[in-house]
Amino acid sequence: MVESKHEHLLTGTNVYMRAINESDIDKGWLDWINDQSLTKGLILSGSQTREDLLEYIRSSRWPNAALFAICLQKDDRYIGNARLSGFDWVHRYCDYGWLLSGGTHGKGYGSESLFLLMRYGFLALELNRISSAIASFNSASLRCSEKIGMSREGIQRQRVNWDGEFHDAIAVSMLREEFDELYPDGSIDAYWDRQNT
Ligand SMILES: CC(C)(COP(=O)(O)OP(=O)(O)OC[C@H]1O[C@@H](n2cnc3c(N)ncnc32)[C@H](O)[C@@H]1OP(=O)(O)O)[C@@H](O)C(=O)NCCC(=O)NCCS
Repeated sequence: MVESKHEHLLTGTNVYMRAINESDIDKGWLDWINDQSLTKGLILSGSQTREDLLEYIRSSRWPNAALFAICLQKDDRYIGNARLSGFDWVHRYCDYGWLLSGGTHGKGYGSESLFLLMRYGFLALELNRISSAIASFNSASLRCSEKIGMSREGIQRQRVNWDGEFHDAIAVSMLREEFDELYPDGSIDAYWDRQNT
């Protein structure tokens, strides 16, 4: 799914992404996906078993979805997952989602991973639009998405049922033309220049 000519698009300064595989389930994914402190902000249903994740990988193969493992450059540690899914190849759009293990939050890895995901979606897959819906209380996800240049499109009212209450979700998206304007050469340096201004 990840052609070698596009591998550099998934390589950042502190993190890189590679295709996910079944062995990743027991290297952290199963624990993370059943940790409510992490999944609270995700729009997904109920607890997941090992078999659920195996089925998810098998049904999410390219070209239905692109699933990635997020790893640290310094020691190759697998720290999270990212996905592009819901592709529409006529209108050239898809959705995104990502999750990092608890101990790795707040170090900039989430934002850098999201940039790599957008870069891959726009430059390798030549999509025109990448979007998501983020639970209104998921401040870290909203902050990361806006930090890398996503725009808010509107509110999906009471989209999320969490802890017995319905919450709004915020629809966010980025367009290819916006990516090109924000990151003219698509380089990781352009990403850091924007982060540091
Ligand atoms: C969303 C997620 C991937 C972000 O990863 P991360 O590595 O912590 O992200 P970063 O360190 O790059 O940036 C987080 C930003 O959110 C901010 N943030 C974190 N918690 C916040 C809060 N409660 N309120 C406001 N801002 C918050 C941080 O300060 C930081 O912004 P800054 O760089 O301006 O200080 C991570 O929180 C996660 O895995 N959450 C659980 C799964 C999830 O919600 N995924 C997204 C589904 S839409």
